[in-house]
Amino acid sequence: MRVPTLLATLAWAGALAVVSSCEARPTPLADAAAAAARPPSFLTVSSPDGRNQISFALVDSGVPVYRVRRDGRDVIEASRMGFTFLHHPSLTAHLRLVDTTRATHDETWTQPWGEVTHIRDHHDELAVTVERASAPHLRMRIVFRAFDDGVAFRYELPAQPDLGPFEIMDEATEFTLAENDKAWWIPGDDPNRYELLYRSSPVSTLPVVKTPLTLESPTGLKLVLHEAALTDWASMTLEGTGTTRLKARLVPWADGVAVKDTTPAVSPWRTVQMADRVGDLLTSYLVLNLNEPSKIKDTSWIHPMKYDGIWWAMHIDTMTWSSGPRHGATTAHAKEYIDFAAAHHLGGFLVEGWNLGWDGDWQANAEKFSFTQPYPDYDLLAVAAYAKQKGLALIAHNETSMGVENYERQLEAAYTLYDSLGIKAVKTGYVGDKTRSGEPHHGQYMVRHWRKVVEAAARHHLMLDVHEPIKDTGIRRTWPNMMSREGARGQEYNAWSGDGGNPPEHTAILPFTRLLEAPMDFTPGIFALEDTRNPGLDRVRTTLAKQLAEYVVIYSPLQMAADLPEHYRNQPGFKFIEEVPVDWDTTFVPNGAIGDYITVVRKDRHSDDWYVGSLTDGNPRTLPLSLSFLDPGRRYVAEIYADGPKANWMDRPYDLVISSRPVDSTTTLELKLAPGGGQAIRIRPAG
Ligand code: NOJ
Repeated sequence: MRVPTLLATLAWAGALAVVSSCEARPTPLADAAAAAARPPSFLTVSSPDGRNQISFALVDSGVPVYRVRRDGRDVIEASRMGFTFLHHPSLTAHLRLVDTTRATHDETWTQPWGEVTHIRDHHDELAVTVERASAPHLRMRIVFRAFDDGVAFRYELPAQPDLGPFEIMDEATEFTLAENDKAWWIPGDDPNRYELLYRSSPVSTLPVVKTPLTLESPTGLKLVLHEAALTDWASMTLEGTGTTRLKARLVPWADGVAVKDTTPAVSPWRTVQMADRVGDLLTSYLVLNLNEPSKIKDTSWIHPMKYDGIWWAMHIDTMTWSSGPRHGATTAHAKEYIDFAAAHHLGGFLVEGWNLGWDGDWQANAEKFSFTQPYPDYDLLAVAAYAKQKGLALIAHNETSMGVENYERQLEAAYTLYDSLGIKAVKTGYVGDKTRSGEPHHGQYMVRHWRKVVEAAARHHLMLDVHEPIKDTGIRRTWPNMMSREGARGQEYNAWSGDGGNPPEHTAILPFTRLLEAPMDFTPGIFALEDTRNPGLDRVRTTLAKQLAEYVVIYSPLQMAADLPEHYRNQPGFKFIEEVPVDWDTTFVPNGAIGDYITVVRKDRHSDDWYVGSLTDGNPRTLPLSLSFLDPGRRYVAEIYADGPKANWMDRPYDLVISSRPVDSTTTLELKLAPGGGQAIRIRPAG
């Protein structure tokens, strides 16, 4: 009778209250059973503004559940929690409450770099300690936090006599949504990392999906399910059940265990961000607030920057990573890129294919990569010295091909060498689905690997830009040298995808999905939009103005001017790339609809300038933009990079009109966006 009784209790708790709004929901339970159930007593914590609540209860025979409400309405109905272990009894039922504590927290902290300078962490907290009612009395603490922009909880397994080393086989956490929301998702068990096009469909139809998972409810609420502070756990995917209930599914080790650790241990936070306006999801910093403060005391060596690099040429196949007549990473090419970066006020430059190991099938031969030995035609010392002389940061490239064992063996020697040469940043790469020992890309083994790398990089004053990364869960707060990462289909797909390139709506979806996590090294700024490896098939499906808009819309503290220097020469639009900052004081999103369009406004952290980026999918649009955010009474000039009257991504992508006009805080601009187009604006004080 255990399961029916539990379900009856969940029904009492409101779990089945909106059956009519979702055809795919389970059949309601017998009224008699529901009536017989005793009302569970929920412990609740509310956000400072009182709108968001997260509650905990032990129902039925000690089954832990939580529930989320906003403005008094269920957002997540009573949903199960806990763990199943390999060698210990599970913590999913037969629990009793041992202790409850409450706390409140209000602190404003400063980001060393980012989308905003100051972030307020204002939340109320409830922590419950529960234990198994019968021996062994395994114990767990669950901490709940309620913020004005969402709620979160995490599990703690304290040190205890009956639980030392442990293996978690399953995390029982569920998210039983109150409505059959529309989800924007990518598959969770696709081996192709995160580099996929997003789809949308009702929650009740979802397979296994990755987080962050963005949801739009029929009543207008916008939600994001994700995790924060993934530092020593398996990454969480969400498994659809054919209902509005999603179940946590941790990416297991090769042997099937999800998490291996020893008490005391803590899980990442399970997060539920909530907003009435979709644009407000982008300015929710809840995930950062749930990460530990910086462990790097002196962050003065960490510099956001724009960079160029020996990169796109390989993707469009005019140069190669491997040695030979078309080898890209030669000393001469590197110097050309350094000269270009220095002449155009970029801060750094990237060189790929400089190190031994690229010849032959580099994806299969990960063990051949050396991270210290250059090809003979690349004089590493001379390039590093030339960069230093020009005041530029050299970004070293370390592709591992998921041969992480090989990488870890060389890590200390490589980073010591880079440090000694004045190299400032490393772009790492993890092309491949599994490590050589069969560990998956998103399991605990790899999470630990990435933590090792970020700590080693911090010791050697190296910033990191990680491609094929683990998803971002906000660890840049703790390790501010963790600058940017890829983790989605980037610009490179426009060079060679074979499916035409990223569709025009792709960059109108990313801000509301992948970019909710954090910075992305998307590599914008392609000006030769049709120069690809498969001309006529693949191409960049945007206008030139949209390439510029991406610098504001897609935040990255390491932002690439991705095209070849020769494609930028005599291009008036390049001025915007030269000027646009990579470090912001303020960010807000006045216009947005997922997959359709977005406008992002940001204020430079180091001047009084404001920047606007707006882009659309394949449809033309005119979006209003009130400049009421400008200082009242102050005169400004808007320098506008707009789609020309006949521009469209298909046959007039280069039609860019650059104009300037006086504006002030009473001005409302009309942003005219062509099909697949965009607009970029710099607003600077006049005079
Ligand atoms: C894929 C990365 O995303 C790309 O930036 C890099 O050039 C290649 N791998 C080679 O490492």
